[in-house]
Amino acid sequence: MAHVSDLIATDIDAYLESHQHKSLLRFITCGSVDDGKSTLIGRLLYDSKMIFEDQMAALEADSKRIGTQGGEIDFALLVDGLAAEREQGITIDVAYRFFSTDKRKFIVADTPGHEQYTRNMVTGASTADLAIILIDARKGILTQTRRHSFLVKLIGIRKVVLAVNKMDLVGYDQKVFDDIVADYRTFAGEIGIEDFLAIPISGLRGDNIASKSDTTPWYEGPTLVHHLETVEIDAEHLQAGPFRMPVQWVNRPNLDFRGFSGQVASGMVMPGDRIRVLPSGRESTITRIVTKDGDLEKAVAGQSVTLTFADEVDCSRGDVIAASKSPTEVADQFETTIVWMATEPMLPGRAYGFKLGATMSTATVAEPKYKINVNTLEHLAARQLELNEIAVCNISIDRSIAFDPYETDHDLGGFILIDKMTNTTVGAGMIHFALRRSQNIHWQAVDVTKETRAMAKGQKPAVLWFTGLSGAGKSTIANLVEKKLLAAGRHTYLLDGDNVRHGLNRDLGFTDAERVENIRRVAEVSKLMVDAGLIVLVSFISPFRSERRMARDMMAEGEFLEVYVETPLALAEQRDVKGLYAKARRGELRNFTGIDSPYEEPENPEIRVDTSALTAEQSADLIIRALHERS
Ligand code: ADX
Repeated sequence: MAHVSDLIATDIDAYLESHQHKSLLRFITCGSVDDGKSTLIGRLLYDSKMIFEDQMAALEADSKRIGTQGGEIDFALLVDGLAAEREQGITIDVAYRFFSTDKRKFIVADTPGHEQYTRNMVTGASTADLAIILIDARKGILTQTRRHSFLVKLIGIRKVVLAVNKMDLVGYDQKVFDDIVADYRTFAGEIGIEDFLAIPISGLRGDNIASKSDTTPWYEGPTLVHHLETVEIDAEHLQAGPFRMPVQWVNRPNLDFRGFSGQVASGMVMPGDRIRVLPSGRESTITRIVTKDGDLEKAVAGQSVTLTFADEVDCSRGDVIAASKSPTEVADQFETTIVWMATEPMLPGRAYGFKLGATMSTATVAEPKYKINVNTLEHLAARQLELNEIAVCNISIDRSIAFDPYETDHDLGGFILIDKMTNTTVGAGMIHFALRRSQNIHWQAVDVTKETRAMAKGQKPAVLWFTGLSGAGKSTIANLVEKKLLAAGRHTYLLDGDNVRHGLNRDLGFTDAERVENIRRVAEVSKLMVDAGLIVLVSFISPFRSERRMARDMMAEGEFLEVYVETPLALAEQRDVKGLYAKARRGELRNFTGIDSPYEEPENPEIRVDTSALTAEQSADLIIRALHERS
């Protein structure tokens, strides 16, 4: 084990020192095992003599076992080990491998290449500076080459290497290489990859990997390792951008000190610089750059620091501090590309958690404008998104945030979508631009408010949200409750599923996506009615927890009362007032709730009525009593 261990043995301090100051390049390899991906990664690890120690130990043991001379690592064995590991781990996600040379440290993300692993590629590549697109010289540009290149462009990896591999198997023929490069140049231009470096290599024989090969005298460019060692990394690139720092937390140990901590995302900052806090737009001047090792004269992209201001301006977690002369944009509606990563489909209109930088908000995605077939790059119509699908969608979030387009800043333009029920990441996205309507439509301040309207009616507005199976008795009970409220002098309105579906929602059917939109609209309408000061009764199956939760979150604390009208499916089916269950059972009605479409029971409804035990009249009385108790 050459240079590294020598230095470790003779001068550990010098080794650590040299290692510390090496820059780090993150890259991904795109291709399949057939293209020689494992061989190439094996070659990089082997030639750099820097295989992770446990890997090394295992391989040495293996070499000894099969009798390789003197415990030397056998290259073929290393590659087999990597390939086997990859195959076993194929469904996990991304394998990261580390190695280093005298000049740089490297992390290579090895992601499975098949279409069904699009999400893994996006995960593994999201922080990569460079992508190696591997091509088998005998096969040329394949569908998967196009798919990988499209994803590389989508994720915004700025450097691309076209590694034309297995040159030994085509007799190191320059024409084969040139033809492939010309083909790729045409395709790369179409998808917007402006520049790439093509290198003829053989992973197996090591040609043009770490040293220049005599077999390709016609190739004048750098070797792969030389290129990896010298190419500009994103961190260097980002230092040239305008100053931005998302605030991770506010540091206030005592009344005399107030600092804002985070990692500089781009550009640089010095005491005396004029800054603007976004989204509020307030300005101040930097007074100090504090770190645990003392104050700094300046901080650049990648550094974690605490900034102090000359003025007491408001600034909190999730805000962005930016150069006042080139601030970020601020908006709450965007055009984006979304990569869907969950087995549950993405449903337009459903509320998802939205995390960008240090901000967390709630987003709803509009119906996709189109989805993209990653193999042909065709645009296709879509109503929802399935696992690994990619689409261009408008989204709106529930507050204005500071952002930059993803193309210029991955930190401030990239986001993830989170399922609010399970708290798992279900999608990743990139902001293209803000929708202009979000900047041109403002909240109109009105003088007559929700409070004054409610006061004029002498009541506390509320939503009584009836949920339950078809035929459970929701509408009958809601109708009785409304009559009783009216008799008591209350101002009410009843929104009933069957009725609203004749008007406002007549364009919607009963797929999951359409039910989500059905409920989103009704929730918005009930919000307006609550604002008008009314007691609103909503009677919809509303089968999904997620949308009932969204409706709840739209109202003020205590305003939303979930009423679970509970009936065993067998009983609702037996009653079958509208004959729909029978139709569904005969297969004449698809997506029927309880039959072939799910109903998710409420977990903690404010009010629960069991209509297998109570009459409609008794249920209505029970609800009125519960309302009185809650005044
Ligand atoms: S929801 O699921 O989107 O909330 P909604 O309450 O608006 O449903 O509409 C339910 C009513 O539509 C039922 O009472 C029933 O009369 C009718 N209906 C027609 N087809 C279906 C179906 N496939 N599933 C459930 N209800 C249906």
